Amino acid sequence: MENFNYYNPVQVLFGKGKIAEIGKFIPKGFKVMLTYGGGSIKQNGVHDQVMQALRGYEVVEFGGIEPNPRYETLMVAVGQVQRENIGFLLAVGGGSVIDGTKFIAAASCFRGKNPWDIVAKGARVDAALSLGTVLTLPATGSEMNCNSVVTREETREKLSFASRHVFPRFSVLDPETTYSLPARQLANGIIDAFVHVMEQYYTFRRGDEIQDRFSEGILKTLIDIAPRLMGDEEPDYQTRATFMWAATVALNGVIGCGVAQDWSSHHIGHELTALHGLDHGVTLAIVLPGVLHATANSRREKLLQYAERVWGIDPARPDAAEQAIEKTENFFRSLGVETRLPAYHVGMETIERVERRLRERGVFALGGIDDVNIDNLREILTSRL
Ligand code: NZQ
Ligand code: ZN
Repeated sequence: MENFNYYNPVQVLFGKGKIAEIGKFIPKGFKVMLTYGGGSIKQNGVHDQVMQALRGYEVVEFGGIEPNPRYETLMVAVGQVQRENIGFLLAVGGGSVIDGTKFIAAASCFRGKNPWDIVAKGARVDAALSLGTVLTLPATGSEMNCNSVVTREETREKLSFASRHVFPRFSVLDPETTYSLPARQLANGIIDAFVHVMEQYYTFRRGDEIQDRFSEGILKTLIDIAPRLMGDEEPDYQTRATFMWAATVALNGVIGCGVAQDWSSHHIGHELTALHGLDHGVTLAIVLPGVLHATANSRREKLLQYAERVWGIDPARPDAAEQAIEKTENFFRSLGVETRLPAYHVGMETIERVERRLRERGVFALGGIDDVNIDNLREILTSRL
């Protein structure tokens, strides 16, 4: 492992009934803005629990944050935060609500002229409003990291920023809040967590044994629980709890410490979402198998390690690498997700457009390793037709 500094200030409140404790972590007398999405929290009882826990606080609500949260919507919230002297943001929902709230937190304190510069130009975030989260969709890890991805409708750009100022102060992870998730979002969440691990694991074989074994453990756990998650008529608490924690540790910084990383599937996937509105998890299920194919020679040793340790394939088999890629794609399909572009009516025109856009932005390496780059992007995406 290389040298690393690990910092994570998020207080995790994990388990049934933990929403009731959030009052301990929000300073008394603060005016709280409760942010949420399209209304699922009002149907599944989470909103009621949160309001109960916030008794004694002045609360204003900001709903309507979309999946792939939109800059245009978030800026409306920023205006309200500034006008109404909000002291604390509480995000209740999935990754989109949490990411959107991180952007609101940063943009509300931004001193530059244009808050879009935070994601478009990497403008410095010197401060942000404090925020907490109540997670309802295990997937992104946003509840325990300092990343945020924002989409601008006007220009169809989906871009991200990271700042230590937007780490949540606390995050409630109550597995029961996931009981109302539809199959589509469970599948998205499993794929997202799986690919987060892959982007921090599938690089080079360098003897990073602790990190590798952590990662392989998370991947195997996701594979193991997926049929139960997708198939159960009645949600099972323990399975939901395992899923929720797996998704959090997949992107809370621990498995990425000191190891090479390659975020190319995410980078390419964001372009597909920006242009076609595809769910984030869906884009990863499409792109990752293409990246695995494109790097099967340059990362052969690690691919064979993955084949053996995650899928139980004998690495001496001549087709071990192929088998591992096929099993990965079949795993995504077993969740009911199509893994080829035509299933989403996406063709060559989009592939060319994505390449053009990234070239215009001066991008070369698409992740952290340059065997996936702008020159083989077309090959990767055409292999998904
Ligand atoms: O909006 P509501 O009504 O709440 O419904 C949501 C939404 O329609 C619904 N949902 C959430 N919890 C529910 C529920 N429905 C029923 N019961 C519940 N308990 O699910 C739908 C999707 O929600 P969304 O938040 O968009 O999904 P997800 O958590 O997958 O977040 C995706 C966003 O996170 C970004 C993605 O790019 C995308 O914009 N990511 C953020 C990352 C980070 N901050 O570190 C990393 C990821 O790689 C990812 O890029
Ligand atoms: Zn992701």
